[in-house]
Amino acid sequence: MKFFLDTANLEEIKVAAAYGFMDGVTTNPSLMAREGLGDQVKQIEAICKVVTGPVSAEVLATDIEGMISEGRALGKIAENVVVKLPLTMQGLAATKVLAEERYKVNATLVFSALQALLAAKAGAAFVSPFVGRLDEIGVDGMGVVEDIVTIYGNYGYETEVIVASVRHPQHVLQAALIGADICTIPFKVVQQLSGHPLTDKGLAAFLADHGKVAKPASGRKKN
Ligand code: G3P
Repeated sequence: MKFFLDTANLEEIKVAAAYGFMDGVTTNPSLMAREGLGDQVKQIEAICKVVTGPVSAEVLATDIEGMISEGRALGKIAENVVVKLPLTMQGLAATKVLAEERYKVNATLVFSALQALLAAKAGAAFVSPFVGRLDEIGVDGMGVVEDIVTIYGNYGYETEVIVASVRHPQHVLQAALIGADICTIPFKVVQQLSGHPLTDKGLAAFLADHGKVAKPASGRKKN
């Protein structure tokens, strides 16, 4: 299973890269705005210098031609840029054109398995169901992911499922159990993944036990 970082913050990306399990990055206009960035090109360039895996950059246009030309421009920033397009009829049309031109597309703002089926048929390389936002309106977000994985398996679609809008470690665990290809995780959730009170307690006990028998470090002998 691949882990992407869901952020446009370069410092977070550098820290997560050092952890050694970050396989890519997803951004969106809200995440860019959180960093105070109106123009994303320089930030995507900077991110692609740190990350070798897929880096999603979202278009702002909403019409077909606008999405296509913006997508081409974003896709040319670096080889690993993935063009993020919203799951609208216009987005699907633009996905088909860009996919035929060999650009990788991430279909975003996906809230149903049928939308995900359309994204795969249009040739999207990735699809991003938003589980947290679904949970918040009383729909089982991970249930939608399960349906998408089943449908893609039924027909052999190669579109990779990115579980997005992740709110807590349980979402990551459920995504792994379902067999989703990727989970894109906010930095604060990444930091929660490894924590367990018994790990902390066990480590403290190991160090305390060692402290009871350890000899004090001897100083260097003087000649
Ligand atoms: O990458 C987009 C997606 O993860 C958005 O998440 O937290 O805005 O629902 P959120």
